[in-house]
Amino acid sequence: MSNKIILKTPEQIEKMRVAGRLAAEVLEMIEPYVAVGITTAELDKICHDYIVDVQKATPAPLNYKGFPKSICTSVNHVVCHGIPSDKKLKKGDILNIDVTVIKEGFHGDTSKMFFVGGKESASIMAQRLTEVTYECLLKAIEIVKPGNMLLDVANVIEKHAKSHNFSIVEAFCGHGIGQNFHEEPQVLHYVSKNPQEHKCLKTILKPGMTFTIEPMINAGKKQVTILRDGWTAVTKDKNLSAQWEHTLVVTELGCEVLTKRKDEVI
Ligand code: MF3
Ligand code: CO
Ligand code: CO
Repeated sequence: MSNKIILKTPEQIEKMRVAGRLAAEVLEMIEPYVAVGITTAELDKICHDYIVDVQKATPAPLNYKGFPKSICTSVNHVVCHGIPSDKKLKKGDILNIDVTVIKEGFHGDTSKMFFVGGKESASIMAQRLTEVTYECLLKAIEIVKPGNMLLDVANVIEKHAKSHNFSIVEAFCGHGIGQNFHEEPQVLHYVSKNPQEHKCLKTILKPGMTFTIEPMINAGKKQVTILRDGWTAVTKDKNLSAQWEHTLVVTELGCEVLTKRKDEVI
């Protein structure tokens, strides 16, 4: 349904830039707190207070379709939408923190992986999965430019993940973003054979489109299950899952990563 894609004006893109930067800054701010023994509910509280009190912004997840917290925290075999809880982080855990802020009506959505207790605490498999997933995101960003299709994005992610014998979660995708948290188009991370989804993959990129790319890559099989809380998505086989997410805008020449952090060279 490429006709429903909302192209943003330069003024709207400037607001997306602000929202994107704020979301990135939350991930930068929280980094030193991610350590053995802290609970994900404590991380949620720190992010919530920073977004509300310092950034004067709104955490988009809070009460979104009933989601109870301000960030998503997905540990180890949790694929996405993990709910912050009183469970303590352990040495060797891998954690995704997904932050979405609303500022002046516009959304910025981004997530990154953290190694609890440092990178060397994680298993070699966890380190590889985390790195390959980030490479998937970078390769996808590289191919975003006017004239290319969402199919090209799906293709590079699929190729890279599969070359490392990892699987791609099909149950969740990236999304258009702007004044809505989620809008057209759907951004698939794999090449779907489903006719309707395949049509979406044929969407041609145009300047002013704003969307996320957020591959979820599994060490084992692609299948996921939703827990009884209605949110937490876990791998069916309990193997590890990793995810990284950026919000971007298509420009005349390529794209601009609106949620880029200081530690990144993209
Ligand atoms: N931030 C997630 C995404 O990337 C969506 C989270 S929905 C929530 O699309 F309700 F769980 F917060
Ligand atoms: Co998103
Ligand atoms: Co997100």
